[in-house]
Amino acid sequence: MSDPPGDNVLVTGALGQIGTDLLEALRIKHGLSSVIASDIRHSEGNKIAEDGPFVVLDVLETEEIIRVCIDHGVGTVYHLAALLSATGERDPDLCRKVNVGGTVSVLEAAKECSLKVFSPSSIAVFGPDAPKHALQDSILNPTTVYGETKVTGEALAKDYRNKYGVDVRGIRYPGLISYKAPAGGGTTDYAVEIFHSALGSGHYQCFVRPDTRLPMLYMEDAITATLTLMDAPSESLGIWKAGYNIPCLSFTAKELAEAISRRIEGFSCDYSPDVRQRYADSWPDSIDGSIAHREWDWSPNFDLDEMVDAMISGISRG
Ligand code: NAD
Ligand code: SER
Repeated sequence: MSDPPGDNVLVTGALGQIGTDLLEALRIKHGLSSVIASDIRHSEGNKIAEDGPFVVLDVLETEEIIRVCIDHGVGTVYHLAALLSATGERDPDLCRKVNVGGTVSVLEAAKECSLKVFSPSSIAVFGPDAPKHALQDSILNPTTVYGETKVTGEALAKDYRNKYGVDVRGIRYPGLISYKAPAGGGTTDYAVEIFHSALGSGHYQCFVRPDTRLPMLYMEDAITATLTLMDAPSESLGIWKAGYNIPCLSFTAKELAEAISRRIEGFSCDYSPDVRQRYADSWPDSIDGSIAHREWDWSPNFDLDEMVDAMISGISRG
Protein backbone atom coordinates (compact mmCIF):
# COMPACT_ATOMS: atom_id res chain seq x y z
CA MET A 1 0.00 0.00 0.00
CA SER A 2 1.13 3.58 -0.68
CA ASP A 3 1.81 6.05 2.16
CA PRO A 4 -1.24 7.96 3.49
CA PRO A 5 -1.52 11.63 2.40
CA GLY A 6 -0.46 12.79 5.91
CA ASP A 7 -0.97 12.40 9.66
CA ASN A 8 -4.13 14.47 10.03
CA VAL A 9 -7.49 13.13 11.17
CA LEU A 10 -10.89 13.34 9.44
CA VAL A 11 -14.15 12.86 11.35
CA THR A 12 -17.31 12.13 9.34
CA GLY A 13 -20.70 12.85 10.92
CA ALA A 14 -18.80 15.16 13.29
CA LEU A 15 -21.84 17.26 14.25
CA GLY A 16 -23.62 14.31 15.85
CA GLN A 17 -23.79 13.13 19.44
CA ILE A 18 -20.49 11.23 19.43
CA GLY A 19 -18.73 13.46 16.89
CA THR A 20 -19.12 16.55 19.06
CA ASP A 21 -17.35 14.94 22.02
CA LEU A 22 -14.85 12.98 19.93
CA LEU A 23 -13.87 16.07 17.97
CA GLU A 24 -13.05 17.93 21.16
CA ALA A 25 -10.93 15.02 22.45
CA LEU A 26 -9.12 14.55 19.13
CA ARG A 27 -8.32 18.26 18.87
CA ILE A 28 -6.83 18.20 22.37
CA LYS A 29 -4.80 15.09 21.45
CA HIS A 30 -3.60 16.08 17.96
CA GLY A 31 -3.95 19.88 17.85
CA LEU A 32 -6.79 22.03 16.55
CA SER A 33 -5.65 22.32 12.93
CA SER A 34 -4.85 18.60 12.59
CA VAL A 35 -8.44 17.40 12.98
CA ILE A 36 -10.85 18.06 10.11
CA ALA A 37 -14.51 17.88 11.08
CA SER A 38 -17.04 17.02 8.39
CA ASP A 39 -20.77 16.43 8.11
CA ILE A 40 -23.50 16.59 5.49
CA ARG A 41 -24.87 19.56 7.49
CA HIS A 42 -23.24 22.96 7.96
CA SER A 43 -21.51 23.52 11.29
CA GLU A 44 -23.38 26.70 12.37
CA GLY A 45 -24.29 26.50 16.04
CA ASN A 46 -21.84 23.72 16.89
CA LYS A 47 -19.17 25.63 18.79
CA ILE A 48 -16.77 22.68 18.99
CA ALA A 49 -16.90 22.04 15.21
CA GLU A 50 -16.62 25.76 14.41
CA ASP A 51 -13.42 26.06 16.45
CA GLY A 52 -11.29 24.25 13.83
CA PRO A 53 -11.27 23.11 10.18
CA PHE A 54 -14.68 21.97 8.91
CA VAL A 55 -15.84 20.72 5.50
CA VAL A 56 -19.30 19.78 4.26
CA LEU A 57 -18.93 16.17 3.11
CA ASP A 58 -21.51 13.56 2.12
CA VAL A 59 -20.07 10.13 2.95
CA LEU A 60 -21.74 8.66 -0.12
CA GLU A 61 -19.29 10.62 -2.30
CA THR A 62 -16.16 8.44 -2.42
CA GLU A 63 -14.23 10.79 -4.72
CA GLU A 64 -14.98 13.74 -2.41
CA ILE A 65 -13.69 11.79 0.61
CA ILE A 66 -10.50 11.00 -1.30
CA ARG A 67 -10.12 14.66 -2.34
CA VAL A 68 -10.58 15.89 1.24
CA CYS A 69 -8.04 13.32 2.52
CA ILE A 70 -5.46 14.38 -0.07
CA ASP A 71 -6.08 18.13 0.29
CA HIS A 72 -5.94 18.00 4.12
CA GLY A 73 -3.17 15.39 4.53
CA VAL A 74 -5.42 12.85 6.28
CA GLY A 75 -4.10 9.52 7.56
CA THR A 76 -6.93 8.41 9.86
CA VAL A 77 -10.72 8.60 9.52
CA TYR A 78 -13.22 8.34 12.36
CA HIS A 79 -16.34 7.41 10.40
CA LEU A 80 -19.37 8.42 12.47
CA ALA A 81 -21.88 9.41 9.77
CA ALA A 82 -24.93 7.15 10.01
CA LEU A 83 -28.65 6.97 10.74
CA LEU A 84 -29.49 5.59 14.20
CA SER A 85 -32.12 2.98 14.97
CA ALA A 86 -35.32 5.00 15.38
CA THR A 87 -34.62 7.27 12.39
CA GLY A 88 -33.36 4.29 10.41
CA GLU A 89 -36.47 2.16 10.97
CA ARG A 90 -38.60 5.07 9.74
CA ASP A 91 -36.65 5.16 6.47
CA PRO A 92 -34.99 1.76 5.93
CA ASP A 93 -33.81 2.56 2.39
CA LEU A 94 -31.99 5.70 3.51
CA CYS A 95 -30.62 3.81 6.52
CA ARG A 96 -29.12 1.10 4.26
CA LYS A 97 -27.88 3.73 1.82
CA VAL A 98 -26.10 5.90 4.38
CA ASN A 99 -24.91 3.22 6.82
CA VAL A 100 -23.77 0.60 4.31
CA GLY A 101 -23.06 2.89 1.33
CA GLY A 102 -21.21 5.40 3.50
CA THR A 103 -19.05 2.68 5.03
CA VAL A 104 -18.19 1.31 1.59
CA SER A 105 -17.21 4.84 0.43
CA VAL A 106 -14.96 5.39 3.44
CA LEU A 107 -13.36 1.96 3.07
CA GLU A 108 -12.80 2.55 -0.66
CA ALA A 109 -11.09 5.85 0.18
CA ALA A 110 -9.06 4.01 2.84
CA LYS A 111 -7.96 1.41 0.28
CA GLU A 112 -7.02 4.15 -2.19
CA CYS A 113 -5.18 6.39 0.31
CA SER A 114 -3.89 3.81 2.87
CA LEU A 115 -6.00 5.29 5.66
CA LYS A 116 -6.55 3.84 9.12
CA VAL A 117 -10.29 3.78 9.95
CA PHE A 118 -12.49 3.74 13.04
CA SER A 119 -15.98 2.55 12.08
CA PRO A 120 -18.37 2.04 15.00
CA SER A 121 -20.73 -0.86 15.34
CA SER A 122 -23.53 -1.17 17.92
CA ILE A 123 -25.17 -3.48 20.42
CA ALA A 124 -27.96 -3.45 17.80
CA VAL A 125 -26.03 -6.19 15.93
CA PHE A 126 -27.68 -8.61 18.38
CA GLY A 127 -31.26 -9.80 17.97
CA PRO A 128 -33.78 -11.50 20.26
CA ASP A 129 -32.12 -14.91 19.82
CA ALA A 130 -28.85 -13.71 21.41
CA PRO A 131 -28.40 -14.35 25.15
CA LYS A 132 -29.57 -11.43 27.34
CA HIS A 133 -25.94 -11.11 28.45
CA ALA A 134 -24.45 -11.10 24.95
CA LEU A 135 -21.00 -12.53 24.46
CA GLN A 136 -18.51 -11.34 21.88
CA ASP A 137 -19.31 -14.34 19.68
CA SER A 138 -23.06 -14.54 20.31
CA ILE A 139 -25.22 -15.00 17.22
CA LEU A 140 -25.91 -11.84 15.15
CA ASN A 141 -29.52 -11.92 13.96
CA PRO A 142 -30.83 -8.37 14.35
CA THR A 143 -34.49 -7.65 13.68
CA THR A 144 -33.92 -3.94 12.93
CA VAL A 145 -32.65 -2.62 9.60
CA TYR A 146 -30.22 -0.47 11.60
CA GLY A 147 -28.82 -3.63 13.24
CA GLU A 148 -28.48 -5.31 9.84
CA THR A 149 -26.46 -2.35 8.55
CA LYS A 150 -24.13 -2.66 11.56
CA VAL A 151 -23.61 -6.42 10.97
CA THR A 152 -22.82 -5.58 7.34
CA GLY A 153 -20.45 -2.82 8.48
CA GLU A 154 -18.47 -5.32 10.56
CA ALA A 155 -18.38 -7.76 7.62
CA LEU A 156 -17.16 -5.01 5.27
CA ALA A 157 -14.42 -4.04 7.71
CA LYS A 158 -13.19 -7.66 7.83
CA ASP A 159 -13.34 -7.90 4.06
CA TYR A 160 -11.30 -4.75 3.45
CA ARG A 161 -8.76 -5.89 6.04
CA ASN A 162 -8.40 -9.37 4.55
CA LYS A 163 -8.45 -8.37 0.88
CA TYR A 164 -6.71 -4.99 0.93
CA GLY A 165 -4.90 -4.76 4.28
CA VAL A 166 -6.98 -1.77 5.50
CA ASP A 167 -6.64 -1.27 9.28
CA VAL A 168 -10.30 -0.87 10.35
CA ARG A 169 -11.27 -0.96 14.01
CA GLY A 170 -14.67 -0.77 15.66
CA ILE A 171 -16.58 -0.93 18.92
CA ARG A 172 -20.12 -2.19 19.42
CA TYR A 173 -21.11 0.95 21.29
CA PRO A 174 -23.86 0.58 23.87
CA GLY A 175 -26.34 3.45 24.36
CA LEU A 176 -24.21 6.56 24.93
CA ILE A 177 -25.14 9.23 27.45
CA SER A 178 -23.83 12.76 26.97
CA TYR A 179 -24.82 16.42 27.21
CA LYS A 180 -22.72 18.36 24.67
CA ALA A 181 -24.91 17.45 21.67
CA PRO A 182 -28.44 16.03 21.48
CA ALA A 183 -28.88 12.29 20.94
CA GLY A 184 -29.33 11.58 17.24
CA GLY A 185 -32.54 9.56 16.79
CA GLY A 186 -31.79 6.29 18.53
CA THR A 187 -33.71 3.98 20.83
CA THR A 188 -31.42 4.78 23.75
CA ASP A 189 -32.15 8.53 23.47
CA TYR A 190 -34.46 8.32 26.54
CA ALA A 191 -31.36 7.97 28.72
CA VAL A 192 -30.22 11.41 27.49
CA GLU A 193 -33.59 13.19 27.20
CA ILE A 194 -34.54 12.26 30.77
CA PHE A 195 -31.79 14.52 32.17
CA HIS A 196 -32.85 17.56 30.12
CA SER A 197 -36.49 17.08 31.17
CA ALA A 198 -35.57 16.49 34.80
CA LEU A 199 -33.61 19.75 34.91
CA GLY A 200 -36.14 21.60 32.75
CA SER A 201 -39.74 20.74 33.64
CA GLY A 202 -39.03 18.22 36.42
CA HIS A 203 -41.00 15.54 34.56
CA TYR A 204 -40.18 13.01 31.83
CA GLN A 205 -42.46 10.79 29.78
CA CYS A 206 -40.26 7.86 28.93
CA PHE A 207 -40.86 5.97 25.67
CA VAL A 208 -39.79 2.57 27.03
CA ARG A 209 -41.14 0.51 29.94
CA PRO A 210 -39.56 1.01 33.39
CA ASP A 211 -38.09 -2.54 33.34
CA THR A 212 -36.24 -1.95 30.05
CA ARG A 213 -32.62 -2.83 30.72
CA LEU A 214 -29.93 -1.98 28.15
CA PRO A 215 -26.13 -1.71 27.96
CA MET A 216 -25.13 1.95 28.41
CA LEU A 217 -22.02 4.07 28.84
CA TYR A 218 -21.15 7.66 29.72
CA MET A 219 -19.69 9.47 26.70
CA GLU A 220 -16.35 10.30 28.34
CA ASP A 221 -15.78 6.56 28.75
CA ALA A 222 -16.83 5.87 25.15
CA ILE A 223 -14.31 8.45 23.92
CA THR A 224 -11.43 7.01 25.96
CA ALA A 225 -12.37 3.52 24.75
CA THR A 226 -12.29 4.75 21.14
CA LEU A 227 -8.90 6.47 21.49
CA THR A 228 -7.46 3.49 23.41
CA LEU A 229 -8.54 1.08 20.69
CA MET A 230 -7.12 3.29 17.93
CA ASP A 231 -3.78 3.58 19.79
CA ALA A 232 -3.53 -0.15 20.51
CA PRO A 233 -0.72 -1.95 18.69
CA SER A 234 -2.07 -3.95 15.76
CA GLU A 235 -0.44 -7.17 17.00
CA SER A 236 -2.51 -7.08 20.21
CA LEU A 237 -5.84 -7.03 18.33
CA GLY A 238 -7.42 -10.34 17.34
CA ILE A 239 -10.23 -11.40 15.05
CA TRP A 240 -12.87 -9.14 16.66
CA LYS A 241 -11.22 -5.84 15.85
CA ALA A 242 -14.06 -4.78 13.50
CA GLY A 243 -16.56 -4.81 16.36
CA TYR A 244 -15.59 -5.30 19.97
CA ASN A 245 -18.10 -5.71 22.78
CA ILE A 246 -16.74 -3.43 25.50
CA PRO A 247 -17.19 -3.49 29.27
CA CYS A 248 -20.07 -1.13 30.10
CA LEU A 249 -22.99 -0.37 32.41
CA SER A 250 -26.40 -2.01 32.44
CA PHE A 251 -29.44 -0.46 34.12
CA THR A 252 -33.19 -0.19 33.66
CA ALA A 253 -35.07 2.99 32.76
CA LYS A 254 -36.58 2.90 36.28
CA GLU A 255 -33.16 2.59 37.95
CA LEU A 256 -32.00 5.61 35.93
CA ALA A 257 -35.10 7.63 36.89
CA GLU A 258 -34.61 6.71 40.55
CA ALA A 259 -30.96 7.77 40.48
CA ILE A 260 -32.07 11.15 39.06
CA SER A 261 -34.90 11.47 41.65
CA ARG A 262 -32.37 11.04 44.44
CA ARG A 263 -30.63 14.18 43.15
CA ILE A 264 -33.46 16.34 41.77
CA GLU A 265 -36.23 16.86 44.28
CA GLY A 266 -39.71 16.43 42.90
CA PHE A 267 -38.59 14.78 39.64
CA SER A 268 -41.22 12.40 38.29
CA CYS A 269 -41.17 9.99 35.38
CA ASP A 270 -43.99 8.11 33.72
CA TYR A 271 -43.80 5.54 30.99
CA SER A 272 -45.57 5.44 27.65
CA PRO A 273 -43.82 2.88 25.43
CA ASP A 274 -43.86 3.50 21.67
CA VAL A 275 -42.40 1.59 18.71
CA ARG A 276 -38.87 2.00 20.11
CA GLN A 277 -39.81 -0.47 22.87
CA ARG A 278 -39.71 -3.21 20.22
CA TYR A 279 -36.16 -2.30 19.19
CA ALA A 280 -35.03 -2.13 22.82
CA ASP A 281 -36.63 -5.52 23.57
CA SER A 282 -34.69 -7.08 20.68
CA TRP A 283 -31.32 -6.02 22.13
CA PRO A 284 -29.36 -7.57 25.01
CA ASP A 285 -29.59 -6.32 28.61
CA SER A 286 -25.82 -6.33 28.98
CA ILE A 287 -22.73 -7.37 27.03
CA ASP A 288 -19.55 -9.19 27.90
CA GLY A 289 -16.52 -7.04 27.06
CA SER A 290 -13.81 -9.28 28.43
CA ILE A 291 -12.04 -9.79 25.07
CA ALA A 292 -11.69 -6.02 24.58
CA HIS A 293 -10.49 -5.69 28.16
CA ARG A 294 -7.90 -8.42 27.63
CA GLU A 295 -6.66 -7.28 24.20
CA TRP A 296 -6.45 -3.52 24.73
CA ASP A 297 -6.83 -3.15 28.46
CA TRP A 298 -9.79 -0.82 28.80
CA SER A 299 -12.57 -0.55 31.36
CA PRO A 300 -15.02 2.27 32.18
CA ASN A 301 -14.46 4.87 34.90
CA PHE A 302 -18.07 5.96 35.43
CA ASP A 303 -20.67 3.83 37.22
CA LEU A 304 -24.38 4.75 37.20
CA ASP A 305 -24.15 7.25 40.09
CA GLU A 306 -21.00 8.92 38.73
CA MET A 307 -22.56 9.19 35.28
CA VAL A 308 -25.76 10.76 36.70
CA ASP A 309 -23.70 13.28 38.70
CA ALA A 310 -21.61 14.16 35.62
CA MET A 311 -24.71 14.60 33.43
CA ILE A 312 -26.50 16.83 35.93
CA SER A 313 -23.48 19.02 36.47
CA GLY A 314 -22.66 19.15 32.71
CA ILE A 315 -26.20 20.22 31.74
CA SER A 316 -26.43 22.66 34.66
CA ARG A 317 -23.19 24.39 33.58
CA GLY A 318 -24.88 24.95 30.19
P1 NAD B 1 -25.82 11.10 15.26
O1 NAD B 1 -27.09 10.79 14.58
O2 NAD B 1 -25.85 11.93 16.48
O3 NAD B 1 -24.80 11.77 14.24
C1 NAD B 1 -24.64 11.27 12.94
C2 NAD B 1 -24.18 12.42 12.06
O4 NAD B 1 -24.07 11.91 10.73
C3 NAD B 1 -25.19 13.59 12.01
O5 NAD B 1 -24.54 14.78 12.38
C4 NAD B 1 -25.64 13.63 10.54
O6 NAD B 1 -25.83 14.94 10.05
C5 NAD B 1 -24.48 12.95 9.85
N1 NAD B 1 -24.83 12.35 8.54
C6 NAD B 1 -25.97 11.72 8.21
N2 NAD B 1 -25.91 11.34 6.91
C7 NAD B 1 -24.72 11.75 6.43
C8 NAD B 1 -24.07 11.66 5.18
N3 NAD B 1 -24.66 11.08 4.11
N4 NAD B 1 -22.82 12.17 5.06
C9 NAD B 1 -22.22 12.78 6.11
N5 NAD B 1 -22.79 12.91 7.32
C10 NAD B 1 -24.03 12.40 7.47
O7 NAD B 1 -25.09 9.69 15.57
P2 NAD B 1 -24.07 9.35 16.73
O8 NAD B 1 -24.86 8.99 17.92
O9 NAD B 1 -23.02 10.38 16.82
O10 NAD B 1 -23.47 7.98 16.17
C11 NAD B 1 -22.26 7.91 15.44
C12 NAD B 1 -21.98 6.45 15.11
O11 NAD B 1 -21.96 5.67 16.31
C13 NAD B 1 -23.03 5.80 14.21
O12 NAD B 1 -22.40 4.87 13.38
C14 NAD B 1 -23.91 5.07 15.21
O13 NAD B 1 -24.56 3.96 14.61
C15 NAD B 1 -22.89 4.62 16.22
N6 NAD B 1 -23.50 4.34 17.53
C16 NAD B 1 -24.00 5.35 18.30
C17 NAD B 1 -24.56 5.06 19.53
C18 NAD B 1 -25.13 6.12 20.42
O14 NAD B 1 -25.71 5.79 21.48
N7 NAD B 1 -24.99 7.40 20.08
C19 NAD B 1 -24.61 3.72 19.98
C20 NAD B 1 -24.13 2.72 19.15
C21 NAD B 1 -23.54 3.04 17.93
N1 SER C 1 -27.86 4.12 20.66
C1 SER C 1 -28.10 3.52 19.39
C2 SER C 1 -29.54 3.58 19.03
O1 SER C 1 -30.33 3.57 19.94
C3 SER C 1 -27.66 2.07 19.40
O2 SER C 1 -26.82 1.86 18.33
O3 SER C 1 -29.85 3.58 17.88
